Parts: sequence; structure tokens; C-alpha cells
Amino acid sequence: MTDSPTPIGSAPHEVDAEALRRRALAALLTARERTALLTDSVDDDELTAQHSPLMSPLVWDLAHIGNQEELWLLRGVAGREALRPEIDGLYDAFEHPRAARPSLPLLPPAEARAYAAEVRGRALDVLDGTALEGGRPLVRSGFAFGMIAQHEQQHDETMLITHQLRSGPAVLTAPVPPAASDAADLPAEVLVPGGPFTMGTSTEPWALDNERPAHVRDVPGFLIDTTPVTCGAYQEFIEDGGYTEQRWWAPEGWAMVRENELTAPLFWHQDAGQWLRRRFGITEVVPAGEPVLHVSWCEADAFARWAGRRLPTEAEWEKAARHDPASGRSRRYPWGDEDPAPELANLGQRHLRPAPAGAYPRGGSPCGARQLIGDVWEWTSSDFLPYPGFSAFPYREYSEVFFGPAHKVLRGGSFAVDPVVCRGTFRNWDLPVRRQIFSGFRTARDA
Ligand code: AVJ
Ligand code: FE
Repeated sequence: MTDSPTPIGSAPHEVDAEALRRRALAALLTARERTALLTDSVDDDELTAQHSPLMSPLVWDLAHIGNQEELWLLRGVAGREALRPEIDGLYDAFEHPRAARPSLPLLPPAEARAYAAEVRGRALDVLDGTALEGGRPLVRSGFAFGMIAQHEQQHDETMLITHQLRSGPAVLTAPVPPAASDAADLPAEVLVPGGPFTMGTSTEPWALDNERPAHVRDVPGFLIDTTPVTCGAYQEFIEDGGYTEQRWWAPEGWAMVRENELTAPLFWHQDAGQWLRRRFGITEVVPAGEPVLHVSWCEADAFARWAGRRLPTEAEWEKAARHDPASGRSRRYPWGDEDPAPELANLGQRHLRPAPAGAYPRGGSPCGARQLIGDVWEWTSSDFLPYPGFSAFPYREYSEVFFGPAHKVLRGGSFAVDPVVCRGTFRNWDLPVRRQIFSGFRTARDA
């Protein structure tokens, strides 16, 4: 392992082992509260049903969360025997594609809950009894515990996507996000001058393998949208014939538009000349000032071409989000090195929608861009590739098997991701045709 988590104590975010232990405990508890909310809010029939062939039944996610925790914390960290070796295969994401999961002999809801709870009880004992200083890379700085909390939160986002895809009346509610008071005064785009910056991390204790190691990239000057592209701007693209003119589309995108007769983002429909959308079981007018959500990479790419612009590269996105020209170093987040807080970014499923474009002035980055963290995942033009010096850790199936031109990188996290699984360096990826995810984008151009 050449790129195992760096020992604690590295500037600029020095955290001691006891603080990491408390942080791991809090992250595991927060994740489980969210998992419980997402799985207790529907009945057993809905838990075992497949709401979309793109998704697993919720009861699969629940037991898979427990199974991964058992694999890494009970067996991996503590060397325990398997609790139920016969179920491992059912919850191995590589053995069974999502579409096949409902026909497996899955644990029924009560058993899945009991299994996940049993594993959790034992995992907390393991956390209590494990030294986090030094030792194996898996336990150093609490990495395995942080990884498992992140894994559960990633599935909590996946389960929220399933909630969005289910039909029937709303079962989840949340307060509206903060308004954008000074949005009208913001420039449309901001400049990021050319020059080197540090991409990725070698010091963030719970950063996943694909975020490592830190390395210098020279990025020529560019301009990037101050905020994500809004529904209002996207409607102009639609009304200008965006979905009917081949010239805006990459070949794969045009094929997708034709085959599926796409005319708008997923969950949108038109009624009496007005665009409406369905959001977690309610139908509402599409809000013009809100970042557009549920668009594929192909749609984002076509919009950008129509606008005479392009998607930012992944390196451009990260430089806009992290580079501090005053110090020359890269921040953990756009606003600095402090952890996310409610006044900085829309994260953690506190609101079940993006905040209007221009919200969260305190969360802005040094270049003046807003909402790089939270609200909507942002598509970049880049393929998902390893950084120079990448080393798979702790398993190849987290990142390495997905590297290559098939997947595009998304950055910044959405309203649906928890802070534990969102950083300036965090990398997400998906197929360019996917749009059930909480995805939006912003555009860029050369300076
Ligand atoms: C990083 C979101 C693409 O959901 O497929 C969950 C995260 N990896 N379990 C996914 C993940 C293993 C992954 N993404
Ligand atoms: Fe998983």
C-alpha cells in the first residue's frame, strides 16, 4: 500500500486519535439515524418492492450496509468469524446487478434490521477497543470506521433516490432551504487565473483511495459559472429546441434523446404550457431560480454547447473550489478548512431540494463561486481516472474497477449527501446517460 491514510498530525487539520474516535462514533450514529428514517418511512411491501430497475429494493441496501460493516469492521479490523456466511453472496454488489436483486432470497425486513443492528452493536465495541494511532493502515486514524460511515451514507443517498423514484403519496418532508438574498448582484461567471494548484489529498484521514495522492496540476486560466445552471436557464435551452437539434449533442446523447424521446429533465412534465416536476411524491411548478436537477451528462454537455460554453474539467472544478491564491495552498472546502455547517452548504438531507442559485454566500470559494459543495452533484467533462501514484485501498472494487472512459466524474455533493462523505477532493462517478441521481452542472470557458 503506497497511499494508505497519512498518520494523524499532518497540518492543516490536525486531529488526535480520541477526536477521530468520537468523530467515527458520531458519523456511524448519524448514518444509522438516516438509514432508519429512510427504511422505517415505508411499509414492508414497499421495502421489498423494486421501484425502478435502476435501483435495489430498499431492504437490499439495508442488509448490504450491515454486511459491508461486518466485512470491514468485524472481520477486517477485529478478525471475527462471519456471523452469517451464507448471505455474503446476496449482498455482494458485483455478484448481482441491481435489476436482479428483487428475485434473490433476501433477508425479510425484520431480519435485515436485526442483522444490521447486531453488526452495529459489535462494531461499536470494536471501535471502543481498537487503538487508532499507528497500526495497520486499515485502522490508522480510524480509516475503516470512517469508510464504513461513508459507505452507509452513500447508500442513504442511493435510498433517497429510490424514494424519489417510488410512486404514491409523499412520506418524507423537510423545511425549505435558505433563500438567495444577493443573487441578483452576482456576476454570471468568475475568473480562475492560470497556474499550478494542488489536486487531491494525502492528509485527509478518511479520504478514499481515488482522492489520493495530492499532486500538482497546472491549469490554464478559465471562467466558470458563479452558480450551478438554473431550471430557468435550462428552460430557455428547451424552448430554443435544445432537445430537437442534433447539433448540440454528442452522438451518445443524441441516441439517448431519440430512443427515449426525451424533452426535459427526469421528473419534469408540461401542463397547460407550464413546466411541473414531481419531487418526493408532490407535484410542483419548476422553480426557475433553483439549480437544475436530474440531468444526465449528455444533457449537461448539450446545454453547455448550446450556450457557447463547455463543462469544466475535473481539475478546473477542484481548482475553483479549493485553490487559495493568497496562500497558494488548497483548502479542504471552498470556504476554508472548517467542517461543513448549515450556514455554509446544503448537505445531509436537511432540505429535500437544492437551495436557489446564489444561496450560501458564506460558503463561497476564493474565486467567488458559490454552492460548489452541496445542492447538486456537478457533472465535469472528465473521465473517471486514477491520479498519478494511485494505489487501490482497501479494495479494488471501490474505485479501480470503474476507472476508464465509460464513467464521467461528478463533484461537490448534493443536498442528499452527508458531510462525512463530502469534501473538496471527493470524487463521484456515473455513466453519462444516468439522471435519476441528484445531478446538475455548471459551465465554463477558456480565459
Ligand atoms: C461512488 C456513488 C458511485 O453507489 O455505486 C456504494 C458508492 N460503493 N457501495 C455507488 C458505493 C460501494 C458508489 N458511488
Ligand atoms: Fe455499497
